[in-house]
Amino acid sequence: MSKNAEIKESLVDNFGRTVDYLRISVTDRCDFRCVYCMEEEMEFVPRAQLLTLEEISTIARAFTELGVTKIRITGGEPLVRRNVLKLFEDIGKLPGLKELVTTTNGSQLRKLAPDLKAAGLKRINISLDSLDADKFRRITRVGELDKVLDGIDAALETGFEKIKINAVILKNRNHEEVCDLVEFASQKGMDISFIEEMPLGVIAEHDRAEAYYSSDQIRQDLSRKYALLDTTERTNGPSHYYRIAETGTRVGFISPHSHNFCGDCNRVRLTCEGRLLLCLGQEHSVDLRHVLRSHPGDLEKLKQAIRDSMSIKPEGHDFDLSAKPVIFRHMNVTGG
Ligand code: GTP
Ligand code: 5AD
Ligand code: SF4
Repeated sequence: MSKNAEIKESLVDNFGRTVDYLRISVTDRCDFRCVYCMEEEMEFVPRAQLLTLEEISTIARAFTELGVTKIRITGGEPLVRRNVLKLFEDIGKLPGLKELVTTTNGSQLRKLAPDLKAAGLKRINISLDSLDADKFRRITRVGELDKVLDGIDAALETGFEKIKINAVILKNRNHEEVCDLVEFASQKGMDISFIEEMPLGVIAEHDRAEAYYSSDQIRQDLSRKYALLDTTERTNGPSHYYRIAETGTRVGFISPHSHNFCGDCNRVRLTCEGRLLLCLGQEHSVDLRHVLRSHPGDLEKLKQAIRDSMSIKPEGHDFDLSAKPVIFRHMNVTGG
């Protein structure tokens, strides 16, 4: 082996940020219709245009050879994609990968949690915006709270290293539940992150500026009940973490509006159609499906396209809740 071949490659963008985290959306479909994520009636990508599971694995391999150490499988709802377990198994075996994680709405966990663990999944993020069945139904439009709570219990019984709850907080929809959600996470030994809604795709159900509830407001609400200790802990994600002094529970805040974190961005996203998006809040992208299908079996061509993509990674998003969305892609295309 030549000396150069021993040097591990890494992906670095024009702003000096190293990209070591890939988020892969395996489907844009979902069994829920959360009001901040989708419209009630959605058109999904036709099955023929999806990357195959083998193509997704090949792209994942290319990224790990380029220094990516963390892969998150997202959707839509990733666990509704047929044979998705095989993908977890294949990606879980890639040399160089340190963390295989997923973000799910929890609806399929009773069925799949043990197999996911066996496939190498270590940590799991589960979306839960309300503990009240009616409110949960209103936010997800069709979701059943009991099924998700049972899915969370299934994940806890399976014994993942860490389970994190994600809650998107909207004023007058669920903001009054922040303490209850922390209490729920604490009792079950889980982390929790509160997320500010992002203006991705046009939605008709609510006015995003009017529904904005900032991380600072949530922190104030929590501090009436808990002592929150600031920490420097990170999970390689955008959350800023605090710990509840009384219980040790880790509470994260994902605050794209009030505390922008683009300066530390370490990630890129692959859509289920094979589009590599360089930023969640911009449209800069590269069609990796085209590269893959024009040069079958040529991993080097794929790797070169990925290296080249670093030159168009934007500095950050320009989210503005008071303006019309400029990104027409809904969140289900990227899974966050
Ligand atoms: P870990 O910190 O690894 O546990 O995960 P995470 O919180 O980054 O991932 P998750 O999939 O649970 O996403 C939670 C929320 O963070 C979602 O609403 C995502 O859209 C948001 N998020 C993740 N990465 C980014 C990012 O780069 N930019 C923005 N604006 N939001 C992000
Ligand atoms: N803004 C912020 N978070 C969102 N999510 C879905 N849509 C949005 C949005 N518009 C969250 C989900 C899930 C995570 C992947 O992204 O609730 O927890
Ligand atoms: Fe489905 Fe997640 Fe979007 Fe809700 S936020 S509709 S669970 S993809």
